[in-house]
Amino acid sequence: MIEGLIQKYHQWLEVPDNAELISLNEGNTPLIELPRLAKLISSNIKLYGKFEGLNPTGSFKDRGMTMAVTMAKSDGSHTVMCASTGNTSASAAAYAARAGMKCIVLIPGGKIALGKLTQALMHGAKVISIDGNFDEALNLVRSICKSSPIALVNSVNPYRLQGQKTVAFEIVDDLGNSPDYHVMPVGNAGNVTAAWMGYKEYYSSHKCSKLPKMVGFQASGAAPIVLGHVVEHPDTVATAIRIGNPASWKGAICARDESGGYIGSVTDSEILEMYQLLPSTEGVFVEPACAAPLAGIKKLAQSGYFDKQVTVVVTLTGHGLKDPDTAMGMHSAITSSVPATREAVMDAIGLET
Ligand code: F0G
Repeated sequence: MIEGLIQKYHQWLEVPDNAELISLNEGNTPLIELPRLAKLISSNIKLYGKFEGLNPTGSFKDRGMTMAVTMAKSDGSHTVMCASTGNTSASAAAYAARAGMKCIVLIPGGKIALGKLTQALMHGAKVISIDGNFDEALNLVRSICKSSPIALVNSVNPYRLQGQKTVAFEIVDDLGNSPDYHVMPVGNAGNVTAAWMGYKEYYSSHKCSKLPKMVGFQASGAAPIVLGHVVEHPDTVATAIRIGNPASWKGAICARDESGGYIGSVTDSEILEMYQLLPSTEGVFVEPACAAPLAGIKKLAQSGYFDKQVTVVVTLTGHGLKDPDTAMGMHSAITSSVPATREAVMDAIGLET
């Protein structure tokens, strides 16, 4: 029987004894070796993808949401609320439904992927689209939750990070130790903060004998941590990480510096190249944000960053089916059909009839 994360890692995730566990059997995602892609990037890396798109709502957010909603319910809240570029809202809506609670989500108007919006709506959330970006939405949610009995379930809620740290546990459990590098996209910066916390906790308990270097990538149009200042009007094709003022900014800097890692940026065209290359070489379909760290690894490899054989894990944070518009935007040629004849199909394949 597959169990949810709070049961699986109960020594590491404290919840009150009498709390009702709100779970969709999240976590336990596959660590998939990506040898073809690795070969195209560098001869020095053994590359694994932690495919978080296989969580119940299709992103890593479920790891934190099982904790946040379990605790919100245990604390007596009836409603949860979040700001979101899409995945947090999908996850919050699903876990709230599971808990019999209400969910309110604030999203940046016109800038969330169709699949994510569909999920929030189908799980019965009250979806409010604002004329503003994620950072403005989060400020509003923080202000509203401060003055009303609504539980905030963005990653500023510490229970979210507690749940999300379990990705590090699973990676170590699978590899038998920490990888040399753990690379991921950085948006609000909760994930890199949480994963680093997970590795440190496991290391302190002798579950691994080394710590990884934590490496993050932002999109160049939304790269506040790289630039060292807030970006007022963030923009990128990777809408999940279209964030100009990350809530866990300090946590990300800490993870980078304590681990001896790196946080850099990649352009939208570098992101789109990897977005297409991963599913077509490895059969793993992810949303655009996940291509940022892959593009980043390629860039680092080209600059000689990996000067010996290393193990690199990349978190593939969300499923490709979340964002059909971006995917189909790259394949507009497949819109016209051919006659239903053998000749026409042979011709379309490029075979002689
Ligand atoms: N990848 C995906 C697919 C995401 O949805 C997010 C964040 C990130 C990466 C970045 O993670 O914020 O912890 O640095 N999405 C949030 C949301 C902001 O609202 O769904 P982070």
